Amino acid sequence: MAHDFGNIDAMIADPRTYMDRATYHALFAHLRREEPVRWTAPEGIAPFWLVSRHADVHSVESRASVFLNAPRAVMRPVAVEEALAARQAGHKEIIRSMNNMDGEEHRQVRAITSRNFLLPSVRRMTDEIDAIAQEFVSRLIYKGPETDFVQDVAVWYPLRVIMALLGVPAGDEALMLKLTREIFEEKSRDEFGKQRDQAQLGFFSYFRDVLEDRRKNPRDDLATTIANGTVNGAPLPEFESLSYCLTVATAGHDTTAATIAGGLLALIENPDQMQKLRADVSLIDSAVEEMLRWVAPVKHFFRTAAEDTRIGETAIRAGDSVMLAFPSPGFDADMVEAPEEFRVDRAPNPHLALGSGPHACLGQHLARLEIRQFFLAFFDRIDEIALNGTPSYSPSSFISGLSSLPVKFTVK
Ligand code: HEM
Repeated sequence: MAHDFGNIDAMIADPRTYMDRATYHALFAHLRREEPVRWTAPEGIAPFWLVSRHADVHSVESRASVFLNAPRAVMRPVAVEEALAARQAGHKEIIRSMNNMDGEEHRQVRAITSRNFLLPSVRRMTDEIDAIAQEFVSRLIYKGPETDFVQDVAVWYPLRVIMALLGVPAGDEALMLKLTREIFEEKSRDEFGKQRDQAQLGFFSYFRDVLEDRRKNPRDDLATTIANGTVNGAPLPEFESLSYCLTVATAGHDTTAATIAGGLLALIENPDQMQKLRADVSLIDSAVEEMLRWVAPVKHFFRTAAEDTRIGETAIRAGDSVMLAFPSPGFDADMVEAPEEFRVDRAPNPHLALGSGPHACLGQHLARLEIRQFFLAFFDRIDEIALNGTPSYSPSSFISGLSSLPVKFTVK
């Protein structure tokens, strides 16, 4: 049935669109069918091509020398971009990190930590992450039998993992959560506010001390690797080192927390799938993939065309911006069978929730392992679990997921 979406430009820019799963997916089904590469011009935001089909998102990502990550990484009002550019010598993003870099610089900066995130290195962390997962399932049990799964458990578990990797003590995690939220929450991207600036200064001053310490007293942590990172033989400049810490810290927790919470909700809403997974936990890896496809918490990143080119049938001019809608390819019926069904044994599962190409998620193996170990620990000890209220979502056009998931459960 045809659906009148009204002002699609305004919908794409409106953070509330991303809180309403059904409308969001109906809108993207319409876009994939009718306007797969859509010129989108929300008020107050520089226009861009919105790309929604699997083949097109994948093709843009694989042509990394034509579709650049700099200078525009995410959707922000022009006023904010201009204010940032004015005080940062033309740089329109709040930080300078991997996702605003291209070519050789991107390769070298990513390579500083990439070894830590390769599959064999991540596999070696299994016991450590399993222990953290067990601890957070114990916390769930302690908070239960009625609890808000997101606020009491899901936000804290991946935060502990990424902070432990970085080398931040557990006692500072609440501060890290507060600062990274204030830096990246939707209203901070809309209003170029004092609070956001203060939070970034706070984060940078904390990590300036950590990095300085690690140069003198190296440890076996990511902060030491970043502190001693080089590009073309020279130390990584301070702003880039601090940006690195901020990218890893933020990319590492809200995304994984949203996937675990959204994955649990999908299992609760599909009891046959919950049953299937409980009965055969060897399905855990395909279930994790399905959770990633289903939740896809990163809603977009941008690229900028370096030359005149095409996306599918559409001509793109040098300088045009392109928005890659990462959740959409996972629901593209040309690639995914019965995409509206949540299936823990789905295979193949060619979603693009973690991106692809040279900028594909650096932490993808870690994220998968965290989700996997959490659900294994969860199924070991939790018996029945049901909704205990209405779930709610955070308003964001960038990274959004459940902000509350009231549940009640019994323990085995
Ligand atoms: C379920 C969890 C996660 C999801 C859904 C996710 C998703 C994404 C997506 C869509 C991108 C952009 C890919 C592209 O442009 O092609 C990305 C990039 C990135 N992610 Fe993740 N991510 C997750 C967890 C993590 C974790 C745990 C880390 C920890 C280090 C991390 C670090 C990064 C970094 C550093 C980048 C930038 C890579 C680059 O530009 O080269 N992510 N992620």
